Amino acid sequence: MYNTKPPVFTLAEGQPIPNPGASINLPTFGGGGLITLSDTLLLETLAHFNRERIPERVVHAKAAGALGEFEVTNDISHLTAAKFLNGVGKKTPILFRLSTTGGEKGSADTVRDVRGFSVKFFTEEGNHDIVGNHVPAFFIRDPVLFPSLNRSHKKHPQTNRPDETMFWDFHVHHHESTHALFHLFGSRGVPASVRRVTGFGVHTFKLIAPDNSFKYCKFHFRPVQGVANMSPAEAAQIAVWDFSIQVMEPEQAEKYGRAVFDITKVWPHKDFPLIPVGRMTLNKNPSNYFAEIEQAAFSPSNMVPGIATSPDPMLQARMFAYPDAQRYRLGANYTQLPPNRTVAPVYAPYERDGTGTITSNYDGAPNYVGSMFTPAVRSKSAQEVCHDEWLRGGAVLGLNELRVTAEDFAQPRELWRRVFDDAERRKWVTAVAGSLEGVPEELQRAAIAMFNNVDPEIGRMIGGRLKESARL
Ligand code: HEM
Repeated sequence: MYNTKPPVFTLAEGQPIPNPGASINLPTFGGGGLITLSDTLLLETLAHFNRERIPERVVHAKAAGALGEFEVTNDISHLTAAKFLNGVGKKTPILFRLSTTGGEKGSADTVRDVRGFSVKFFTEEGNHDIVGNHVPAFFIRDPVLFPSLNRSHKKHPQTNRPDETMFWDFHVHHHESTHALFHLFGSRGVPASVRRVTGFGVHTFKLIAPDNSFKYCKFHFRPVQGVANMSPAEAAQIAVWDFSIQVMEPEQAEKYGRAVFDITKVWPHKDFPLIPVGRMTLNKNPSNYFAEIEQAAFSPSNMVPGIATSPDPMLQARMFAYPDAQRYRLGANYTQLPPNRTVAPVYAPYERDGTGTITSNYDGAPNYVGSMFTPAVRSKSAQEVCHDEWLRGGAVLGLNELRVTAEDFAQPRELWRRVFDDAERRKWVTAVAGSLEGVPEELQRAAIAMFNNVDPEIGRMIGGRLKESARL
C-alpha cells in the first residue's frame, strides 16, 4: 500500500501521536485513571465511530463492485452523437455495481431476487450511467407504486421478516407484474455468479444523431461465454460483457402499441434485432469498498448529449428519485466524491457551498447568473433537443391509461409456451408454489387466477402442487 517509508500515526488533521491504542490517563488521588477533554485522540476516535454509518440505499443495498473499461467494437455515430459510443477502438473507463434489490447491506447473495446492474461511463462529455436490471421486464409501469412494490418484497413491519403474504398481496392486485414474475421465478431468479448475469437498461431511451433526428433504443449487456476458457486465476478477476442496442424508428413506435414505453414489456428481438456496439471488461477490484462502491451514486439522470429520456413515466420518475436519494444518503456534494467525479471539466458555479465541499468551490467567480465577470461560455455540443413525440405518439397516450389489458399477458405467454422447456416450466411452478405455500388461501386463489390469464395449465399445475402439500 505504501511504497515509501511507513507513515507515522497522526490525528485526522496530521498531528503526530505516540499510540492510537491508548487514551491519555492522568493519575488521580486514590489510584485509577482520569480521562480529560484534552485527549483529542480519544474524542476524535469515539466521535468518528459514531458517525461511521451512512444510510444504506433504500433498495439495492447489497452489492459487489469493480472497475474496468468499455471499448467500442462497432461504430454507431450515425445513430448517436454520444462520443463514448463512437469510433471503433475508443475506450472509456467504467465503474460497475451488481446488487440484489430487497435485502439490506448484510443480506445473502444467493436469494431469488432481481439483480441491479449499474454501469457508470466516465466519458469526455461527463458521466453517463446505465442503471439497469438483470431481467428485461419490470413489475410496474406507474412510478407511484414503486415504494409499495419494494415494501411488499422487503420485511413485514410487525415481524421484521420477509413475508410471502405481503409479496403476493401486492402482485395479485397488480397483474401488470405477471411478466416480471415469470423472470423472477425462472432459473434467472437466482444467478450463479456475479460475472454471468445479463444486464438490461429496461427503459426505452432515445438516441439522438448529430443532425438531431432520433430513434428509440434499448440497452443490453450479455456476458461473453469465453470467460469459461480462462484459467481460474484470470477468471476470478476478469469479467466481460458484450454491449448491444435495439433501435426503433419514431414512426414504428407510433404503431407498435404500449410495449414501446412500458417496462413491464420487452421489444421482441425478431422485430428489433440486437445491434452490437462494444465490450465491457471488469479488470480491477476496488481498493476500498466504502470509498469506491458504497459512495458511488448511479442515476438514470446522468446522460451525455446524444442519449436522452423517453416519455416512459417510470424513467421520468427515476430522473428525480436517484439524485434526491443520493443527496440524502451522501450529502449535497456527492458528485465531488471520488467514485462520482467526472473526468470532464465541470463548471456549475450556481451550485456551490453545502456540506462536504471538497473543490475550490469556484473561488471568487460570480455566484449569480448573467455577470460580465463569469469566465464560462455556452456549449455548442449540448443540443437543445425538442421532439414532438409527446404530441403525436400513440404509444404515449396508450400508456397514460395504465389499467391491465390482455396485452399484459401476451409476453409471459410467449415465455411459458415457447421460451421455457418442460424442465423450466416445472422449476418455475415449483418456485411459485413454494412461495405461495404459507400464504392465506384467498391469496393463493388470486395468484392462480392471475397466472390463468397467461395459460390455464399454469393454474392447474400450481393448484396441483399446493394440494400435494395440503395447503389448498
Ligand atoms: C437504486 C428509486 C425503478 C434499478 C435505487 C435507489 C432509489 C431508486 C431511490 C437508491 C439510489 C441511491 O441511494 O443511490 C427508484 C424509483 C423507481 C425505480 C423511484 C421507479 C419509479 C428502477 C428500475 C430499475 C432500477 C425500473 C431497473 C431498470 C436500480 C438499481 C439501483 C437502484 C440497479 C442501484 C444503483 C446502484 O448500484 O447504486 N432506485 N427505482 N430501479 N435502482 Fe431504482
